[in-house]
Amino acid sequence: MQRTLQGRNLIEPLDFSVDELEGLFDLSMRVMKDPGSFAKKCAGRLLATLFYEPSTRTRFSFEAAMLRLGGQVIGFSGEQSSSAAKGESIADTVRTVACYADIAVIRHPKEGAPRVAAQNADIPVINGGDGGHQHPTQTLTDLLTVRKEKKRLAGLRVGLCGDLKFGRTVHSLIKALARYEGMEFFLISPEELVVPEYVRNDIRNGNDSRYTEVTRMQDVLPQLDILYMTRVQKERFFNEEDYVRLKDSYILDADKMKLAPADMIVMHPLPRVNEISTEVDADPRAVYFKQAKNGMYVRMALILSLLGAENGSGENTVPILSREEVKSWK
Ligand code: NCD
Repeated sequence: MQRTLQGRNLIEPLDFSVDELEGLFDLSMRVMKDPGSFAKKCAGRLLATLFYEPSTRTRFSFEAAMLRLGGQVIGFSGEQSSSAAKGESIADTVRTVACYADIAVIRHPKEGAPRVAAQNADIPVINGGDGGHQHPTQTLTDLLTVRKEKKRLAGLRVGLCGDLKFGRTVHSLIKALARYEGMEFFLISPEELVVPEYVRNDIRNGNDSRYTEVTRMQDVLPQLDILYMTRVQKERFFNEEDYVRLKDSYILDADKMKLAPADMIVMHPLPRVNEISTEVDADPRAVYFKQAKNGMYVRMALILSLLGAENGSGENTVPILSREEVKSWK
């Protein structure tokens, strides 16, 4: 199943079919149960991390994933340390990186930048987050977490709370979840931070999914299977005043958790600022740090699949030059 992913890109959440995702999640679980047997699968392979925006989890989990597979990593964090600072285009940077690495992950403030990168590289390119648009590998993390914690990916009541306008993790997660049957979304946000219309359309075009938009978290908390909290995306605001006014719109604390069902789970892509009080961390329903850990395993499965390395011994590294190219040089 995963073999079909070899050589592909992951730019947006629907790039892989539901069946392909199942294969990826099965592989993630196998890696999680027996990491030792995957420890050399990517020996001799190189991952490039091109991060034009800040990141902790996405970059580190990709790097940790590749290192735990026996591969190696090159990259930059912040465009000031790459030739982008000299005015180089993404297309040229990626074309160059593709000469050195076997696979690349790119995070960029401009929506669509990873697609441009993929069009200009002959190695698999992964979108590590593009502006306020999409974040498909966070979605893999989220879906794997839901599958593990709720034992199903259908008929779930999912509350998404916070910055639904700029939150790319929310946009990608909704798009991906709406493909599963009978999902019910509760979109909890201030008026100013409601989801973009295209996200509502993703729900309308889903597999019998519905949505309700509300401003008060307490009104829907008792009905939820999943509460997905998000940070107000400071870096996407045009003025500081609006951010300051909206940043503490929702704070999940122990009192509010009393309204939630005993089997509801609380997710968050992290980083959190104030939106989940630290007292909630000890609640067994809080799964956001488990979610971060799942992120590394699903990225291990993703790298294995895109490189076609899941069944390999790790001995057969990708030759930098093909046999024909070497011959023609002699
Ligand atoms: C998210 C992101 O970068 O969009 N973080 C992450 O990758 N886990 C969420 C956020 O920054 O709020």
